[in-house]
Amino acid sequence: MAEEILIGTASRIILGRGVLDAATVLDGVGERSCVAVLTQSGPSVIARSVARSIRSAGLRAEVRVLPDGEAAKDLHVAAEIYAWLNDLGLSRLDTVIGVGGGTVTDLSGFVAATYLRGVESILVTTTLLGAVDASIGGKTGVNLGGKNLVGAFHHPTRVIVDADVLDALPIHLTRLGAAEALKTGLIADPALVDLYERDGLGADVEEVVRRSIAVKAGVVERDPTEQGERAILNYGHTIGHAVESALGLEHGNAVAIGMVAAGAASRIETGFAGEERQRSIIESLGLPIAAPDASADAVRSYLRLDKKRDGDGLRMVLLEDIGAPVVRHIGSATVDAALDSVGIQEVS
Ligand SMILES: NC(=O)c1ccc[n+]([C@@H]2O[C@H](COP(=O)([O-])OP(=O)(O)OC[C@H]3O[C@@H](n4cnc5c(N)ncnc54)[C@H](O)[C@@H]3O)[C@@H](O)[C@H]2O)c1
Ligand SMILES: [Zn+2]
Repeated sequence: MAEEILIGTASRIILGRGVLDAATVLDGVGERSCVAVLTQSGPSVIARSVARSIRSAGLRAEVRVLPDGEAAKDLHVAAEIYAWLNDLGLSRLDTVIGVGGGTVTDLSGFVAATYLRGVESILVTTTLLGAVDASIGGKTGVNLGGKNLVGAFHHPTRVIVDADVLDALPIHLTRLGAAEALKTGLIADPALVDLYERDGLGADVEEVVRRSIAVKAGVVERDPTEQGERAILNYGHTIGHAVESALGLEHGNAVAIGMVAAGAASRIETGFAGEERQRSIIESLGLPIAAPDASADAVRSYLRLDKKRDGDGLRMVLLEDIGAPVVRHIGSATVDAALDSVGIQEVS
């Protein structure tokens, strides 16, 4: 049985097993005559099967495999896809479907947002990170030197999450997605934290996705264009992004380290009592809890911190308790302690 979650008036999320048939993905043929399916190497078999099912429903469906990973989120790739859509004769009544992880859904959503000033976007998300984060909230984009520098808000009409696909993921991808799902629990759903503490990476994927989406959808609905509350979704991401850039880590691993650092800052600034518990859950998921190889200088420069300017600090999401986030400006002594807590020390 598939369940439907409605986000605002724009997006429906379908979560279930065996939900990759044309009827579920498209919810009826409607006025469409052509569907362009974008995918990447890992889930390309899934994308071809979705396209076959759409063809059986009487529509034209073509598949294009994007470069894997961040290489897909590139304006040159977008330009090639625009030309391909034009060759296909894709019209305003037609649909672009992204079948893949967050890089595919970010690029396919961006293309859908901009081609012909916007066509329908449907996302079939095939990684845990995509299901709990990247496909929810309508942000699309490509990289331009920095990550996600060019983009648009464009809500998919439908997001399809097939739990059978997520259960079959390589453990490495499950772990990276778990970092982001755990973050969601830490900021807004203590029961999700309990679930990971009890079941580790074996946590029921449908429950993880359902809970994570409920949190993200709620936050996004209250703050659709990131004016305020949406910032809490960045828990673990300030220092996490700096470590990600300094060491070239995968995002989930960097967020894990960033959450450990934010936990330490929280203890100092708010008296957060869950620091040790958080660290031990992250460790038990097999995620990293320190970045001893990162140079403090490099991390500071990515944080745009200048040691010489007194009074510098950072705006960061902290926890007062599990499920109770606050955004605070923290001073340089707390930044130092947070970096120290993940093994990043000044070499004097
Ligand atoms: N738009 C947003 O709000 C938002 C939020 C969070 C992250 N993101 C973006 O998401 C991206 C990261 O997403 P990701 O981790 O899914 O990365 P990804 O798309 O690179 O996928 C990771 C790897 O998994 C493989 N893969 C995908 N599905 C698979 C499957 N079913 N089986 C086997 N392999 C599979 C892919 O081929 C790829 O090698 C980043 O670019 C990030 O900026 C966007
Ligand atoms: Zn993230």
